[in-house]
Amino acid sequence: MSLRLGDTAPNFQAKTTAGDIDFYEFLGNGWGILFSHPADYTPVCTTELGKTALLQDEFAKRNVKVLAVSVDPLDKHLGWVKDINETQQVTVGFPIIADSDRTVANLYGMIHPNASETATVRSLFVIGPDKKVKLTITYPASTGRNFVEVLRVVDSLQLTSNYSVATPADWKEGEDVIVVPAISTEDAIKKFPKGVKVVKPYLRYTPQPNK
Ligand code: BEZ
Repeated sequence: MSLRLGDTAPNFQAKTTAGDIDFYEFLGNGWGILFSHPADYTPVCTTELGKTALLQDEFAKRNVKVLAVSVDPLDKHLGWVKDINETQQVTVGFPIIADSDRTVANLYGMIHPNASETATVRSLFVIGPDKKVKLTITYPASTGRNFVEVLRVVDSLQLTSNYSVATPADWKEGEDVIVVPAISTEDAIKKFPKGVKVVKPYLRYTPQPNK
């Protein structure tokens, strides 16, 4: 069965381009992103890993460790990383798991047999400091992901895990947020001293509380 939101992200040990890791030790007490690619030396994957490398500082700022996985061996990964660095003008500084035996791919349900019997789809899991799955996204091999969107979602996940707020459609860091339905307007006014704008009794906005 596939992993669902709120499930515990399974731990594993793996060989990576940065040496052997234990996933939980790698994550420590911070956030993590585990994401899969169909195969090494493929064009879309090359751009995805390049884009992730470009955003490394943004992930670090948010205390998010990034870990890629593909079902190819380590020597192939190492050669491919050189190509990514060259063609995308980056330095890939996060590990890539060499998952030749598909341990991680199977544990996280990254192979969807009706899409491909052998290659992983583009799965991405955001894992919280409690090791629970906070977000899953799945894209087909033919469509590269938007890693700026992944950062935006991390911002929302981190904010909403600390405050009784939710984020509206297309929300970006710094914009007004929504008071969750569980809080009465009377309590919201006390909780959010920057103000509460009541559009409807169920639709109430407040400035982002941690700004
Ligand atoms: C790619 O990463 O470029 C790719 C992989 C499999 C199918 C299509 C594209």
